[in-house]
Amino acid sequence: MPLHIVNLVAENYKRLVAVDITPDGNIVTLSGRNAQGKSSVLDAIFAALAGGEASRATKQPIRDGQDVAVVRLDLGDYIVTRRWTDDDAGSLTVETPPTADGRKQKYSSPQKLLDELVGKRAFDPLAFTRMSSAEQVATLVATVELPFDPAELDRERAGVFDQRTEINRTVKQLEGQLGGTPKPVDGTPEVEVSAADIIREFDLAREHNAALDNEMRNLELMQSAVEQAKARVAELEAELTRAREAATNRWDDYQAKLVKFEAGPERIDTAEISERLQKVEQTNVAVRAGQEHRRIAAQLAAKREEAARFTLELQAIDKRKSDALAAVKFPVAGLSFDESGVLYNGIPFSQASAAEQLRVSVALAMASNPQLRILQVRDGSLLDSDSMKVLTELAEKNDFQVWVEVVDESGQVGIVIEDGQVKA
Ligand SMILES: Nc1ncnc2c1ncn2[C@@H]1O[C@H](COP(=O)(O)OP(=O)(O)O)[C@@H](O)[C@H]1O
Ligand SMILES: [Mg+2]
Repeated sequence: MPLHIVNLVAENYKRLVAVDITPDGNIVTLSGRNAQGKSSVLDAIFAALAGGEASRATKQPIRDGQDVAVVRLDLGDYIVTRRWTDDDAGSLTVETPPTADGRKQKYSSPQKLLDELVGKRAFDPLAFTRMSSAEQVATLVATVELPFDPAELDRERAGVFDQRTEINRTVKQLEGQLGGTPKPVDGTPEVEVSAADIIREFDLAREHNAALDNEMRNLELMQSAVEQAKARVAELEAELTRAREAATNRWDDYQAKLVKFEAGPERIDTAEISERLQKVEQTNVAVRAGQEHRRIAAQLAAKREEAARFTLELQAIDKRKSDALAAVKFPVAGLSFDESGVLYNGIPFSQASAAEQLRVSVALAMASNPQLRILQVRDGSLLDSDSMKVLTELAEKNDFQVWVEVVDESGQVGIVIEDGQVKA
């Protein structure tokens, strides 16, 4: 069962002399001139409920010249009585309402019981609309169950963002370096050519050719020997047979070697080799440039990949946050927040219309006080008739009792407070 204030009695609390109020309806208007005790009525209600912290914040709760202040709240199911005295810490009792024969029962841990009845923040919805963005976010976060710590998630995101910025700086640097490094022309070998190898090849070719030259000279010698032998055949008839045989043998030998020579290896063109030898340093300069180009290109690709990984990580954090936010149940549809503040339908709360702001903050205040359904609006004079209509409609719809303080000198509005008392 939702609780309201059925009756309020306050004596000597701040500006109050004595008031006894039995409110009627969802909007309870306290009116009167300045400094007559309107805020003291609201203070008395919340001081009676909140205890501890709230009482300590008020240095002098007892009206000047008195030694006891008492506030008694009848909440229907509970009767709350708090007393302040000059000489002790004061007292609090919470009792059941009296039965027909006048018996009542005291609860044993009264403040604990009240803390459970009173919402996390009995905040003033109008005050919420005037908070800084950071205070609004803190208030909103306190009213919902968040599966993450927004500050921690923001810090984590900033860390990854910084790392990516660092990597991207290296990417820029390498891109510049690569641009300034000449690209090797097509066909440049990937490793340096060895001059020693070419010299060895050159030497071997020369040896090879010298051997062939030698062989050729031998053949020439042999050929002349054949001719001599033939001359001797003519001269030396007597030795013809033997000489012919010798000539024939040598002829055969010559034939065989000639055939072999003709079928044998070709001469090697040493000019091309020596040309290559001359170009060796030039080639190797191009080779080194090519190696440097490939090294930087590989480094650049790796860093680009790293930066892309950080981008994915940032996206993952953002998604984690938006998924978590999507799952959070805010007390008002369309309400959320980001690092900059509270958002309503995706637009900064401060940019919503006054009526929207009021509607949202009233709904928030109501959601945080589900049991003891009372709210206070201290600057009621700032509400125009449209806003007042919104407030009344929400109070009726949600069965809330809204205590509104307005400055009014006509003596005709709501409960009129004058000189610390309810004006008759
Ligand atoms: N303990 C106290 N004893 C006497 N007067 C007090 C005490 N505390 C506050 N006041 C006076 O009460 C007045 C403010 O009361 P308040 O309830 O805020 O008036 P209202 O909301 O009607 O303008 C001030 O004049 C202040 O000096
Ligand atoms: Mg006031």
